[in-house]
Amino acid sequence: MSGFEIRTGLGWDTHRLAPGRPLILGGVRIPCDFGAQGHSDADVLAHAITDALLGALALGDIGMHFPDTDPRWSGADSLLFLRHAAALAAGRGYRIANIDANVILERPKLKDFRTAIRESLAAALSIDPDRVSVKFKTAEKVGPVGEGLSAEAQAVATLVRDAAERLA
Ligand code: C5P
Ligand code: MG
Repeated sequence: MSGFEIRTGLGWDTHRLAPGRPLILGGVRIPCDFGAQGHSDADVLAHAITDALLGALALGDIGMHFPDTDPRWSGADSLLFLRHAAALAAGRGYRIANIDANVILERPKLKDFRTAIRESLAAALSIDPDRVSVKFKTAEKVGPVGEGLSAEAQAVATLVRDAAERLA
């Protein structure tokens, strides 16, 4: 028996923006006079990637694993959710081939933080930063994101394992 099993997962998340909240993306604090609202640290990028990993594994979604009604996750570092999803993948014999993600946020400009965000995510996932891509887009001033009311993130995760692992 030889070959590989490849699985892909899709994640999406959105958070409302509010003055005085921290803006945390992929575990990196972005200097800004507003931030994302949410039960945890509201890291929209970490949440989308977590759901992409869970999706690839067909293990439900982030709210199933970390309910936002649970006081344990109040103000939580969302990299914890990401590490949990990565551990579930590793436990099933999967390696993360790559992650690709979009953050849609009208301002501030994020491109100077790309390296830090990729390195932060890669460290949480225990993979090389070369396997983590993060792209940034505005919404061209259209809709809630464009009006600066919210932030969105989208992610795709690809997992790979030896076909023999499935039989193990
Ligand atoms: O949305 P738009 O196509 O105008 O974005 C142009 C470029 O600006 C993006 O490719 C990205 O490099 C950068 N950008 C950014 N931070 C944002 C939005 C976009 O650095 N919040
Ligand atoms: Mg979220």
